[in-house]
Amino acid sequence: MRKGLVFAILSGLVFGIMVFPGLVFSGGPKDGELMFPKGYESFPVFLKEIQKKNAVRDLYINNKGAAAHKGDAFPDGTQLVMAIFKAKAGADGHLVKGSDGKLVKDKLAKVYLMEKSGGWGGNAPANLKNGDWIFSAFSSDGKRIEVDYAKCRSCHLPLGASKDFVHRYDEYFAKKMGAH
Ligand code: HEC
Repeated sequence: MRKGLVFAILSGLVFGIMVFPGLVFSGGPKDGELMFPKGYESFPVFLKEIQKKNAVRDLYINNKGAAAHKGDAFPDGTQLVMAIFKAKAGADGHLVKGSDGKLVKDKLAKVYLMEKSGGWGGNAPANLKNGDWIFSAFSSDGKRIEVDYAKCRSCHLPLGASKDFVHRYDEYFAKKMGAH
């Protein structure tokens, strides 16, 4: 009787591992599988009003990440959020500029997220690992959207481990230290 039970449990376990190896071994999400960072607008600001050709971008970092010091990698549990807004165009189609000379935000277009945790890098393609960062893209209403994550990875990869694959690493810490 007992033996039968042990056998049943063991075979259930083996079956589980065979059917869901990702769940049992990989630990953590892959690109595109992160949860939407609800309430990110009240996270500490990373950088604001980044001016692009046709867009304005606001960057946020969660509290865990905001504890990082210059020269360090961001700690496990860091979330970096990039809110991408369309730049407002006037009736003539030209982009509008505010009195500060900056582009004016129109609708929120997309939200990009990078999140890291120990071992998550194991879920990325070997030649495109960005440390333990995982990438995800969302529509303005927080739904996951289909994108080519190899593009995210290959454009962030050249920053290297010394900047923790974060484009605005230096600018962030320069601003942060200037604020003290
Ligand atoms: C062609 C290059 C390129 C691609 C592709 C790209 N990024 Fe970035 N990313 C940047 C640059 C440059 C910045 C810095 C902000 C800026 O200038 O817009 C940035 C900033 C970020 C940030 C804020 C932290 C930082 O690095 O400063 C996040 C989060 C982010 N990207 C996520 C993503 C995601 C998710 C994807 C794919 C869906 C992606 N990126 C694709 C170039 C890229």
